[in-house]
Amino acid sequence: MKHQKIPLLEEAFKKAMLARNRAHAPYSNFKVGAVIKLAGIDKLYSGCNVENASFGATVCAERVAIFSAIASKGKVPFEYMLLVTDMNPCAVPCGICLQVIAEFTYPEFPIYLSNLTGVQEKVMLGDLLPRGFTSFT
Ligand code: THU
Repeated sequence: MKHQKIPLLEEAFKKAMLARNRAHAPYSNFKVGAVIKLAGIDKLYSGCNVENASFGATVCAERVAIFSAIASKGKVPFEYMLLVTDMNPCAVPCGICLQVIAEFTYPEFPIYLSNLTGVQEKVMLGDLLPRGFTSFT
């Protein structure tokens, strides 16, 4: 995929690969790395999936990346997310992660899907979650 104009995209891929290597996935053996970029500044936060013997306690890489950014910076605007797995075609975020991404972004939010060789595809949050739940207030 051509992506010269996307700020820090190559760095984001490398950071996601490093995070993926730190995945704790002894049950599924499926390692995931994710990076979220803050809008307007050169700041990337990464995450990996962290599994648990009580399977429901597992947290996906995307949520770890977003929660890490929020823990450091508070609720700030995000520019894009990048996801890396070894799947071909590339994996997309799970439904729970899409719901979390939706909480902090917008339907046109770009998500770059990658395999181990690099970014392959760009999708928008709204393509994957066209009519997500927003709020009951
Ligand atoms: N996983 C993620 O980290 N992100 C996703 O979007 C899908 C699934 C993780 C959770 C679990 O550790 C493993 O992949 C298998 O589902």
